[in-house]
Order: sequence, then C-alpha cells, then structure tokens
Amino acid sequence: MPTMRYFTILTGLTLFLLSAAEDLSQHVDVFMGSEGGGNDFPGATRPFGMVKLGPDLLQSGTDAYSGYLPTGEFSGFSMMHEQGTGGAPKYGTVSQLPLVGNISDPLSNITVARDGTDQGSVGYYKAQTGQGVEVELSASSRAGIYRYNYPIGSVTNVLIDVSHVLPSFRGQGLGQNYKGGNLTIFQDGHYEGQGTYDNGWNEAPDWTIYFCGHFDSTATSNKTYTAAGSAGSVEQPDGEVSSSSGSTRIGGLFTFSDTEVISRVGISWISTEQACDNVDREIPKGTKFASVVDDAVSEWNTKVLSKIKTTSTDETSLSLLYTSLYFMHLIPTNQTGENPGWKSNEPYYQDIFTFWDLFRCSTALMQVLQPTAYEEQIRSLIDIWRHDGYLPDARSSNYNGRTQGGSNADNILADAYVKGVRGQVNWQDGYRAMVEDAEITPANYPVDPMASDSSTHQGRGALPDWLNLGYITPRFSRAVTRAVEYACNDFGLYQVASGLGKEDDARKYLNRSRNWRNHWNPNQTSLGFSGFVVPRNADGFIATDPLKDGGYWGDPYYEASSWAYSWNDVHDMKHLVELMGGAETVVQRLDTVFSKGIFDSTNEPMFNLPYLYNYVDRQDLSVSQSRKVAKGDYHTDPSGLPGNSDAGAMQTWLLWNMIGLYPITGQTTFLIHSPWFESMTIDLGDGKKLEITSTGGDGNGDSDYYVQSLKVNRKAWAQNWLTWEDVFADGGTLEFELGPTAVNWTSGALPPSPASE
Ligand SMILES: *[C@@H]1O[C@H](CO)[C@@H](O)[C@H](O)[C@H]1NC(C)=O
Ligand SMILES: *[C@@H]1O[C@H](CO)[C@@H](O)[C@H](O)[C@H]1NC(C)=O
Ligand SMILES: *[C@@H]1O[C@H](CO)[C@@H](O)[C@H](O)[C@H]1NC(C)=O
Ligand SMILES: *[C@@H]1O[C@H](CO)[C@@H](O)[C@H](O)[C@H]1NC(C)=O
Ligand SMILES: *[C@@H]1O[C@H](CO)[C@@H](O)[C@H](O)[C@H]1NC(C)=O
Ligand SMILES: *[C@@H]1O[C@H](CO)[C@@H](O)[C@H](O)[C@H]1NC(C)=O
Ligand SMILES: *[C@@H]1O[C@H](CO)[C@@H](O)[C@H](O)[C@H]1NC(C)=O
Ligand SMILES: *[C@@H]1O[C@H](CO)[C@@H](O)[C@H](O)[C@H]1NC(C)=O
Repeated sequence: MPTMRYFTILTGLTLFLLSAAEDLSQHVDVFMGSEGGGNDFPGATRPFGMVKLGPDLLQSGTDAYSGYLPTGEFSGFSMMHEQGTGGAPKYGTVSQLPLVGNISDPLSNITVARDGTDQGSVGYYKAQTGQGVEVELSASSRAGIYRYNYPIGSVTNVLIDVSHVLPSFRGQGLGQNYKGGNLTIFQDGHYEGQGTYDNGWNEAPDWTIYFCGHFDSTATSNKTYTAAGSAGSVEQPDGEVSSSSGSTRIGGLFTFSDTEVISRVGISWISTEQACDNVDREIPKGTKFASVVDDAVSEWNTKVLSKIKTTSTDETSLSLLYTSLYFMHLIPTNQTGENPGWKSNEPYYQDIFTFWDLFRCSTALMQVLQPTAYEEQIRSLIDIWRHDGYLPDARSSNYNGRTQGGSNADNILADAYVKGVRGQVNWQDGYRAMVEDAEITPANYPVDPMASDSSTHQGRGALPDWLNLGYITPRFSRAVTRAVEYACNDFGLYQVASGLGKEDDARKYLNRSRNWRNHWNPNQTSLGFSGFVVPRNADGFIATDPLKDGGYWGDPYYEASSWAYSWNDVHDMKHLVELMGGAETVVQRLDTVFSKGIFDSTNEPMFNLPYLYNYVDRQDLSVSQSRKVAKGDYHTDPSGLPGNSDAGAMQTWLLWNMIGLYPITGQTTFLIHSPWFESMTIDLGDGKKLEITSTGGDGNGDSDYYVQSLKVNRKAWAQNWLTWEDVFADGGTLEFELGPTAVNWTSGALPPSPASE
C-alpha cells in the first residue's frame, strides 16, 4: 500500500534524523582553540553553566587563562573558569587534587605531573596524573562530579585547598588573591565551606563562593590544616578550619582505601546551604558518573547543537561548525537565583568577558539561536544597571569591569530593541540605563593603575570631553578608540529613543553619533591614503602613525591602530566613504588592508573590515576577502583560532561566515556575502526557521563561492543586504546560485548609513 510505504520511508527518515541529532556532539572538539592563545576552556560544562569543571595547569611564567595548558603540572581540578579570555586569569576556584602516598605538608602548593595527553568530549574530561591516578570529570549546571581511579595498593587521597586560584605571571597587578575562608568536615563525611578571593582581570574587590562536597566512598581518615605564610601545614583538630585573611591558608585531606572514589560537589554564590541543595538536586547520592555525561551530551544537543543543521558531510567543516556553536555558549553564566548582590525577580547572567569583543557579531547571533536566553540576558543587563548603577561592559565575580573603549552594552540594547526583543524587557528602564551611560560620568573609583585618568569600571570615563567638546583630548587615555566607540554608542541611543518616540533625544543622539568625525584628519596620510581618525586637542590634530599598532590601556588607540578604528562607525558609512575619497579609493584602501598585512584577524576591532566592500557595491570582494580569512586563519586543531576566543567572539565570526550573512549591530541590517554549504537550516525558535541553500558552489565554501544570483523568500533579490524582518523575524529562505567567477549581480540600494545626511 502506498500509505504504508510512505509511512516506512518517513520512519526511516525520522530515525536517521534522530541519530544524526544524537551525533552532533561528536563533531565538537573541546580542545580546538585551547592552545596558541585561543584559551578555550576544554573541561566539562553545560550551556551557560555555572560550573565549568576542568584542570588547572601550573607552569611558571605562563598564564593559564581557562585553567588548561598543554604543558605544566596539575595544581588542581577546579569548578570555576572563564571561556577563551585574555588579560589575566580569573577563577580556578573550588578545587580538588588527587594525591598518592603519605602527604606530610598538604598546603605546600603541591602539583603533580601529567601522564600522557588529556582527553575530552562534550560533558566529559579525562586526565592521568604522573602518580597513576585517572581523573574523570563531568558537570551539571551548578554541580560537578569527579571520578578518581588510583593505582591498586596505593594510599589514596583527595586534597581540598580552599586557597587555590589561577595565578597570573604577567606582572600587571591583575593576579587573584585568596582572602580567607573556612572548611568544615561533618560526621557523615561531607564537607562545606567558603572561600573569598579578589582581583583578576576586572580588578574586582573581595567575592565569596560557597561549596558543598560529598564522597561516595567512606574515608579512612580526614584531616584539616592551616598554613601561615610559607610555613608548613599544621593539622587542626575537630574537622574545622577557618582563616580571616589570605595570610593563613586552609584545606583538608581525605584518605581512602578504595581505588575508585567518586566526589560530587555543588557551588553557590549565596550560601553553603544552597551549594548543598545544588548538588543534591542536580547530582544526588548514587548518581552514576555516566548518566551525568549522558545528560550533558543530550542537553548540548537539544539546546545548542541542533539549532543549526546542514547537509554537509565534510568532517572538518562539521567540526568547525559544531565546535564554534559549542564555545559561544559557555559564558555568560546563567546565575539566576545565584545573585549575591540583590534580590530580584529578574534573570541574572554574569561572566561577560567582554562586550567590547561580543557586540560586533556575537550577541546578534545569540539572539538568532537563543531567543529565550537572550531576552533573559537583556533583562539581566538592565537589572544590573538598576542595582549597580551602570550597565556592564564586562563583568566577572559579579563586578563590572573592565571597560576597554565605549559603553558597548548600549550597542547591544539597541540591537535587541530594533530587532524586536520585547517579552518581559522593560525598555523604559533599558533606555534610562543607556542615558546614564551617555550623560553621567562614572566616578573614577576604583582607580585603574593601568589607566588612572578615568573609570574603567563602568560607564564612559571620558564623557566630560565628549559632552563639552564633541571629541576626546589626550588627557583621557584611549581617546581615539573611545571617541569612535562613544559615537557608535550614541547611535544606539538614537535607535532606541526613536523607537520609544523620544524625538528630541533621537535628534540629539543622532547628532552626537557623528562626532567621531571630529577626530578625522583629512591630511593624515599613510601608505598613500589620506584621512584617518587621529588624536586631537583644542589646538587641532596631533600627528600620528596610523600603522602603529599595539596600543594598550594608556595609549590613544586600544589594541589596534588607526587603520582599524577609522572604519568603526558603520552607522555613518556613506559619509566615511566620502571622507575617504569615494568608492574607488575605499576599495583600494580595503585591498591595501589585506595585501599589506594590516588586517589583524587575531582581534575584534577589524572584525567587520572584510565585509565593508558591500558599502561600495563590491559584494564579490567581501566574499573573497572574508572567505580567505575564514579558511586561512581558522583550523580544527588546538591552535586553530587566530586569537583569544574571547567568550566565543572569534567562533561567532566564523559562524557568520558559514551562514553567508554579517550583522551590523545596532541596525536591522545584515550584509550578504556567500554561504559555505549546499544547505543549512537555522532553528529560530517558535517553529520558525531560516533555510539557506546554494547551488553551483563546491558545497564547502573552498571555491566557486561567488554569488551569481540570489532569491530571498523565493523572490529575486539584487540588494547586497537584507533586514531582520526579511528572514529572521518570521523565518525565511535564501537561495544562492554560486559560481567560480565574480559577477555583478547587485543593482539595488547600498546598505543604509542612517547617520549620513
Ligand atoms: C605512611 O603512613 C603510614 C601510617 O603512618 C605508615 O605506616 C607508612 O609506612 C607510611 N608510608 C610511607 C611510604 O611513608
Ligand atoms: C565561615 O566564615 C564566615 C565568614 O567569616 C562565617 O560567617 C561563618 O560562620 C564561618 N563558618 C564556619 C562554619 O566557621
Ligand atoms: C572524620 O574524622 C573524624 C575525626 O577523626 C571522625 O570522627 C569522622 O568519623 C571522620 N569522618 C569521615 C566521614 O571520615
Ligand atoms: C604557596 O603559594 C602561595 C601563593 O603564591 C605563597 O604565598 C606561599 O608562600 C606558598 N607556600 C609554599 C609552602 O611555598
Ligand atoms: C537560567 O536559569 C534559571 C534558573 O535555573 C532557569 O529558570 C532558566 O530557564 C535558565 N535559562 C535558560 C535559558 O536556560
Ligand atoms: C549638533 O551638534 C553640533 C555640534 O556638535 C551643535 O552645534 C548642534 O547644535 C547640534 N544639533 C542638535 C540638533 O543637537
Ligand atoms: C589640510 O591641508 C591643507 C593644505 O595644506 C590645508 O589648507 C588644510 O587647512 C588642512 N586641513 C586640516 C584640517 O588641517
Ligand atoms: C553593478 O551593476 C549595477 C546595475 O547595472 C550598476 O548600477 C553598478 O554600478 C554595478 N556595480 C559595479 C561595481 O560595477
């Protein structure tokens, strides 16, 4: 019967699709980008999970930003990490270390060698110590599970060192410090306690984390210790130790006769009680290690990896795709219900590291893939403003900082607003928070030793000049970067003010969004091109070398040169093209960026450069330049990222390249370039999807990638851009015809430049 047959085929297809869904995590390589400065965190975790359980490697002189290093010795396996960050290590707190033999001085900063190479997959990590102990790790959202297998016949221990943090060797004063804590071992064998720490990249004051640990084996002995300064460990009676300052360290040592020991630990930002609840709820007594791993795999598949499906069978591409999706979902951390700062019914996310990295193309992808989480993140940002006074540009250990350039949460709120994020977001408050950034200079406290002139904690430190002069003088560090970014931030205020019907504000901020032009010196030259953003004061422009790179906190340009920052105010692109001397010069100038090695794929300020050709009607060059970067600088090996992942910022840049679109944050615009695969389907939530197909390409984006024609929602399309409403708001289709040579398929309007008159 035809019906039967149809049914059979469908069932076969469904089974095939189901097994394909189960397989997606197998394409994730948790070590991709973990070396060579990528700093990806390879340990066990869940999407936006509070626990990130992984190894901490100690190698003197080398900072381990996410705990992991391919070399060095294990100082512990700890529950808290960041993802792919630079600057200085943060966390490495709540740790255990398995040790073999009699331990006479447990708090002497013991490290153990690594044997072989660590292994890991989604929700699972495994390492072998030089003492022959196999360590396996898995995690739920707020708890973790350790499984130790010791050599038969050995004295087996687990060390709990409350003072353990990731150290920093960079010598910039950003190293974390242990500041005190306590540890109690109870009669039933479980332990509880808390540790207080400070500093790290965001120069945070003291913060406290609570923990609650269980062993599923009975210890033959348990001891608690203190160690003052560099003196040896002193055993303390009664299973209870505490210290009120960092000068006395505390810890415990559990000794077992079993060769397999399972340890379950919960953490909480609120209390030891809540830490115990977290582990009891998520990994209760008797939980099989394998079931935690299985749950992790299934959660990653369902909530994250299945959001993008393709027909590609190329394992390298699949690995790049799913590994990138994975690494953009580690932070921010969903700490809803775990906010030590204030009580509120709003969601709470932190570990924002940093919006300076993420506003360019990452938060736009977060909205596409995780609309529910994204709305929660936007509400959380506004709630942070409500209670801490300012939106964060970055935030870790529940403390804002540091702000590298502008107040870039403004760009993100504007992006969310214009793309219709509403739900439970209070946009009147959202706009108030943005106005605070735009109008109220933040107190310069605490003073940043690396940029003491104005706040790097939050807000816009250089606001006095921006408000009074319309430009920023060198009395403020990072003056040019800040001016360029403040202009973009003010454009964000214009967008939201317009939407809320605040006409006067809208006019004012649109005007202010053009003030980057006050830094444009038409006579500044470099490599034969004229016109760059430069430092200036009341007397006029200050000569500079636009090629000079590497500026840092105290310099006029932050982490990139004028060649990069001169392109950053995309909301005013039409005017910028005129200032640069017209479309032809702009093409030559962009070509020069790539041919002369000026392009820097290792850092975010140049993220949008390969795509800007669309603004001068050379979509074909956006395709070829961006594809060269994507295929040349991103690889499936441990050093496969061009620079710090930065919370997944690098990975999202690559994902957009695969998709064939590039978002212009703060506007509904997406620039069109060219997709990699014959077919890709993006799940937009609520049953909506975006289907992107291509014919005539090589199916993998390596060649034959020039657009010959395009249909959007089945209609011929000649513009090199589209909007959120076109394909994301209700879903849609993009049908590309690709080919080996560039053709001029565009005739429509250029992408909008709303600030250009
Ligand atoms: C370890 O300590 C136990 C008990 O104190 C002792 O019997 C044993 O000899 C020690 N082993 C080593 C290797 O020191
Ligand atoms: C641990 O230290 C905190 C802060 O000093 C204190 O409030 C708490 O009572 C201590 N707990 C124990 C069990 O000593
Ligand atoms: C921990 O040690 C104390 C004192 O030695 C003992 O009373 C208690 O039973 C031990 N608990 C466990 C679970 O080992
Ligand atoms: C362990 O490291 C801490 C922090 O670096 C240091 O203060 C302490 O003196 C060290 N202890 C020993 C025994 O080396
Ligand atoms: C964030 O955490 C809260 C509390 O556990 C939970 O209710 C919410 O669903 C989480 N959000 C997402 C997107 O998973
Ligand atoms: C726009 O800015 C200029 C100077 O920056 C100022 O003179 C002018 O009044 C502003 N216009 C509006 C509408 O705010
Ligand atoms: C640029 O140079 C020209 C020619 O020397 C001069 O007339 C003009 O004032 C200069 N412009 C600026 C903004 O310095
Ligand atoms: C592409 O073709 C259109 C329509 O004929 C024309 O307006 C446009 O100038 C052409 N673009 C280029 C870069 O040649």
